[in-house]
Amino acid sequence: MSVVKIAVAGLGTVGLETVRLLRARREELKERLGAELRVVAVADRDAAREAKALGLPASVARYRDPVEMAKRADADLFVELLGGLDTPLRVALAALGRGKALVTANKRLLAHAWPQLSAAARKSGARLAFEGSVAGGIPVLRALELSFAGDRVLGVDGILNGTTNYILSRGEEGIAPAEALREAQALGFAEKDPSFDLSGQDAAQKLSVLAGLVTGGWLKPGSFAVIGIESVTARDLSFARERLGMTVRLVASLRFSGASKTPSAEACVAPTLVPLGHPLAAVRRQYNALLVRTASAGDLMFYGKGAGAGPTASAVLADVFVLARDIRGALPSTTISPRKLALSSPDNAISGFYLRLEVLDRPGALARIADALAREGVSIAAIHQDQAANGRSVSVMIATHPSPRGLFERARKRILSLSAVSSRHCAMRMMT
Ligand code: HSE
Repeated sequence: MSVVKIAVAGLGTVGLETVRLLRARREELKERLGAELRVVAVADRDAAREAKALGLPASVARYRDPVEMAKRADADLFVELLGGLDTPLRVALAALGRGKALVTANKRLLAHAWPQLSAAARKSGARLAFEGSVAGGIPVLRALELSFAGDRVLGVDGILNGTTNYILSRGEEGIAPAEALREAQALGFAEKDPSFDLSGQDAAQKLSVLAGLVTGGWLKPGSFAVIGIESVTARDLSFARERLGMTVRLVASLRFSGASKTPSAEACVAPTLVPLGHPLAAVRRQYNALLVRTASAGDLMFYGKGAGAGPTASAVLADVFVLARDIRGALPSTTISPRKLALSSPDNAISGFYLRLEVLDRPGALARIADALAREGVSIAAIHQDQAANGRSVSVMIATHPSPRGLFERARKRILSLSAVSSRHCAMRMMT
């Protein structure tokens, strides 16, 4: 086959950039692949207008309905860049059902429909690739899938959401969260509904994709703890830096255990105190990073832009190239078969914890807080109370020694039930 025919669903910013690059790099790609990557069909609500803007020849079929294109277009490889869930799922199942290769950058699609996609690909022998779905332009999925094939991935800690990282790192520079969010929106990497970023759900979907890739098991969104950055204030950032030598990052973590046939994982997304000398502390603004812990290669850090037209199109093009190479070589598809992935209890995860409380300044208040921690066997490593202003509530910051999360959570509940303590508080794990 000297031509690999490509159909692209979705001509938003990433879709447009993908088609533009496929055409601009046509000769280079042809030389490397030994075949032409030819765009033969596009689908978009405004397909005619976008195709004209891209200067696509009349021979490129234009569809308004991407599902129709996935069912009918004479293409070898479909690229899904629509966003959302229902239509992308129908496009993916239609293409995979026809035995066609599928490239998608849709984390939501993968996080919610991993078993369906895998099963459809296996049934028809189709190929599926999704490098752009996690951490944009950082080639981390292919590294996890192939580069550690002879090694064992023990765990990952990632900064997988640019918006929250932008807000936290602008906060270190004294910029208020609302203003930093406006900047992130203007720069174009915040979700349409930014609560999705702030609540940690975007990072959780990406973590679900990573877990699926490493273990072949489905980590269903909603099955593990996800905490956003809404409760983190400027006071937490300044206290962390000045008194603890740490900073705050929204960290998505996985720890793997169990045999490869019966994998199990510990998963969470949570604001986390990270020592200033830790590699994740150096990840600022909209950058993403993934720290991978392996049995033989040790710790590796991947770093780069996690969103945007250029970085995502770069990942999509790499997928297109690799799948086209496999199609040409008639290599069998190697889609991972879905397996059950057991989740370990988050209660057993051990770390130090940070707790900021708003406490009425009255006799015995601190003693009761210390007592609640002591009753659960959680030991205080540091404690600080801001200067009290006559009868007002004051901020009390506590850092604990490492303890199981379950015990810390019980102590936190005890503390929040005290009459002198407001429910407004911030709790974070601390990384060593
Ligand atoms: N909203 C995401 C982020 C980008 O802020 O990182 C798309 O994954």
